[in-house]
Amino acid sequence: MERIHVNLGSESYDITIDRGLLDRMGPLVRLALPQAEKLAVITDDTVDGLYGERFEKVLRGAGYEVRRIAVPHGEGSKNLRTLGEVLEAMSAFGMTRSDGVVTLSGGVPGDLGGFAAAVYLRGVPFVQVPTTILAQIDSSVGGKVAVDLPSGKNLAGSFYQPKAVLIDPELVRTLAPRYIHDGMAEAVKYGCIRSEALFRLYEGLHTDEDIFGALPQIIRECCRIKAELVEEDVRDNGARMLLNFGHTIGHAIEREYHYETYTHGEAVAVGMVLLTRRTEALGLTAKGTADRIARVLRALSLPVTVEAPASALLPHIAHDKKKRGRRITFVALRRIGESFLLPVEGERISELVETGV
Ligand SMILES: NC(=O)c1ccc[n+]([C@@H]2O[C@H](COP(=O)([O-])OP(=O)(O)OC[C@H]3O[C@@H](n4cnc5c(N)ncnc54)[C@H](O)[C@@H]3O)[C@@H](O)[C@H]2O)c1
Ligand SMILES: [Zn+2]
Repeated sequence: MERIHVNLGSESYDITIDRGLLDRMGPLVRLALPQAEKLAVITDDTVDGLYGERFEKVLRGAGYEVRRIAVPHGEGSKNLRTLGEVLEAMSAFGMTRSDGVVTLSGGVPGDLGGFAAAVYLRGVPFVQVPTTILAQIDSSVGGKVAVDLPSGKNLAGSFYQPKAVLIDPELVRTLAPRYIHDGMAEAVKYGCIRSEALFRLYEGLHTDEDIFGALPQIIRECCRIKAELVEEDVRDNGARMLLNFGHTIGHAIEREYHYETYTHGEAVAVGMVLLTRRTEALGLTAKGTADRIARVLRALSLPVTVEAPASALLPHIAHDKKKRGRRITFVALRRIGESFLLPVEGERISELVETGV
């Protein structure tokens, strides 16, 4: 069993990682939510079908009254209407302020359920039980909870820390391969920005079985890095920005393809490689870095190029710039394991975005 402490003063909590933890989570949830009598388990239909009943039994065994609230799977559920339905279901269950929420899910019900916990009766305590690689290494840690608005992703949300994050790496065995690789793109990102040792571990992964074998270690290292960055910068204005490596170009790719052709992780994979090729050419990054990243990503069945020309991506980046002010802050690498913020203005932005098409 691995334990990582996220030190945020009065909002501190532990991340616990262990194979097969799901069936042993009862006492850990009780420790995190000591006062609760009722628990709302927020999940989606797919995860509920796979693990819902088993998890409910675990929680009942810890003395809770449990109501599973399953939303339809997919990003389409991360909206205000579904949030309203979840809150209504919590109210119909008769939850009071001392009761709690547990999310059992990937990042979509995790962000939605965390936001529901943040606003129900002005806040009830919650625990995250992430079930995708992305959620286990990224979205369940850090306290960002949100829903999408018709005008954009994550536009309504809050910072609301969980009381605990409980991770069973075995749960991702039922994930579709595309989501495994999608999550691994973000895992590669952590190695790039902060840990060459972690990156070297990825260089030894050749099959999905290799990934499953190394998963507890990968999750531990990624959570450790995310916890460090979140502790340094709980309000998302400095260190935490390093987590955006690959994301400026990645978001532009997602938008250009209307969030259909590329998953988020796939777009980020391309973004990391394209940007690093440019910063290498500009002498900001050690030679050979982009090739090294591309090799690891290809072995994980992730794309490293895109058909769209830079001229198609740049307007999406300019759109970001409008929202955030004059400058775009890219995250670049000095070398694998060492990253820095690279604020860029005006014409120079296009120097950093080339797709080779
Ligand atoms: N809060 C944050 O800091 C943060 C960070 C990164 C991403 N996010 C958000 O996370 C979301 C993406 O997360 P995601 O990729 O986990 O999406 P998701 O929750 O939609 O899960 C992806 C798919 O996998 C299925 N699934 C989940 N667990 C499974 C399991 N164990 N076995 C089989 N199928 C399973 C789901 O039903 C879904 O269809 C986005 O909305 C993104 O904005 C949030
Ligand atoms: Zn991301």
